[in-house]
Amino acid sequence: MQDDDKRLAAEAALGEISPGMRVGIGTGSTMAFAISAIGSRLPEWPATSFYATSQATWRAANAAGIPIGRFADVAELDLAIDGADEIDPQLRAIKGGGGAMLREKIVAASARRMVVVADGSKHVAALGKAPVPVEVLPFARSFVEARVVALGAKPVLRITPQRAYRTNQGNLILDCNFGIIADPATLAAALASIPGLLGHGLFLTEVDAAYVAVGGIVTKMERPAA
Ligand code: 5RP
Repeated sequence: MQDDDKRLAAEAALGEISPGMRVGIGTGSTMAFAISAIGSRLPEWPATSFYATSQATWRAANAAGIPIGRFADVAELDLAIDGADEIDPQLRAIKGGGGAMLREKIVAASARRMVVVADGSKHVAALGKAPVPVEVLPFARSFVEARVVALGAKPVLRITPQRAYRTNQGNLILDCNFGIIADPATLAAALASIPGLLGHGLFLTEVDAAYVAVGGIVTKMERPAA
């Protein structure tokens, strides 16, 4: 059921792709449905280039037959499609459950339009039930941990069964539970100011639209024009 909604949301968002676009593709289980659908519909979008937000997405895209460009060679994309861990009515999101939020934010910022795909469990009234992941230079682990604690977080070092989780850049992740976040913009600015904290999962201005599926019905939410 939840997987059906993930798939429906992901497939609905593919209507945003037009031939010739440069498209960023995000990471996670919802995006896995998008990647598989893009792979099977690839001829619909001639001259379109795709860019991956993570090594996992690069591998999944390869397996689906989608040629992936080198993001390092482009400054601007037309569209980014990505999942989210939480999204609120103002289209502010928490991302990074898959550990890719640093690249995901760069790709989102480079895109003229970013759309999120999600099942209904991700749609929340206020951000903060999910932890905010922060990417940390290993050298700065204790320093950053103390700084996020001072901001009110309960940080947990993300681990794999064998060892600390490492991002695609070789860094650590602290999953920071802040509880319900009353002022996401102030928190985002405070996180961004910590040396050694290389990126965080608060996406407050990047998302232009969200496709959210609940019980088989996809609703598109669009950010009001500023
Ligand atoms: C990866 C992400 C994912 O998009 C987010 O965690 C949602 O994943 P899923 O679709 O598996 O629930 O931000 O860094």
